[in-house]
Amino acid sequence: VEAIRCLAIRGAPLIGVAAAYGLALELAGSPGREAVEDAAARMRAARPTAVNLAYAVDRVAAAALAAAPDEEASAARREAEAIEAEETAASEAIAGFGADLLAGTRVAMTHCNTGALAAPGRGTALAVIAELHERGSLRSVVVNETRPLLQGARLTTYELTRLGISHELIVDSAAAGLIARGEVDAVVVGCDRVAANGDVANKVGTYGLALAASAAGVPFVVAGPTSTIDLATPTGGRIAIEERDPDEVRSMRGKPIAPADAACRNPAFDVTPAALVNALVTELGVVRPVGAEQIRDLCATPSAR
Ligand code: MRU
Repeated sequence: VEAIRCLAIRGAPLIGVAAAYGLALELAGSPGREAVEDAAARMRAARPTAVNLAYAVDRVAAAALAAAPDEEASAARREAEAIEAEETAASEAIAGFGADLLAGTRVAMTHCNTGALAAPGRGTALAVIAELHERGSLRSVVVNETRPLLQGARLTTYELTRLGISHELIVDSAAAGLIARGEVDAVVVGCDRVAANGDVANKVGTYGLALAASAAGVPFVVAGPTSTIDLATPTGGRIAIEERDPDEVRSMRGKPIAPADAACRNPAFDVTPAALVNALVTELGVVRPVGAEQIRDLCATPSAR
C-alpha cells in the first residue's frame, strides 16, 4: 500500500499487478475471510483514480474467498500470476494494434510514463511507440516532462534511451505550441480509467494535449488494456481524481520552488472527453470512434475481461 501511495510503484496496470501480489503476500501471513476483506479494502484505497487497482484486488480477493481456508493464499497467488500474464499479453497486442493504426508516424508525442516501468510487458502507449520504432517509421519522440513528479523526464527518457529511440524532452507548456506548428504527427498517451462513455482519465495535462491536437487536426490516441475500462462509471465526470500533497507542487525533487505557504492544488489526473479521443487501442483491437456504444461492444466480445 505504501509503495503504491508514494509512487515507488506507479502506472495503472502495474499498480494493479503489484496490489494483486501484495494481497496474496498478506494472505500468506494472515489468512481468513476478515483478513482478505480488510487487506483488500486497504489495498483498493491506496490510490483512487486508476481502476486497474480495484479490478486486480477484486479478482484476487474473489479467488481467495472461493478457496478452502488453507488454500486462500495459494489461490490468491495463482490469480495474481494470471493477471500479470494477461497484462503482459495485453501489452504486446496493444503494441501491434497501435503500430498498425499509426503506421508511418515519424514524430510521436507522449506524456507521463507508460512503458515497462508502468505496466507489465512493454507498457501501453510506450509499447506502441517502441513497436513503431521497430517497424522503422519513427524518427523521434517528443517527451513531455510531466510536472509535478516528472515521470516523463525521469522515466520515459530513461526507457527510450534503453530502447535506442531518439527523443527530445520538453516542458509541458511547450507541447501545445509544437503540436500547433505541425511538429508532431500523433499524440499517444496511456489511461488510468476509461468511463463507460469513453471519457478518459489520465495524467494531469492530458486534456490540454487533446485540445491542442484537436485544434491542429493531429491524431490523439489513447492506449490501454481493457482492465482500465470501468463500465460501472458512466462518464468521466464521475471518476475520482486523486488530489496529492501540495508540497509536490511547491517543490521539485525536494527543493522548494515556491513560498512554503503558497496555496496549491495538485490534481494528479484530468479527464479528456471521448469526443477528443480519435482512437482507443486495447488488446482486443482499436475502438474508433470512441463512445458508449463502441465501448459496450468491445466489452461484450467473448475474450473481454
Ligand atoms: O501517477 P502515475 O505516475 O501512476 O500516473 C501514470 C499515468 O498517468 C499513466 O499515463 C497511466 O497510468 C497509463 S500507464 C501505462
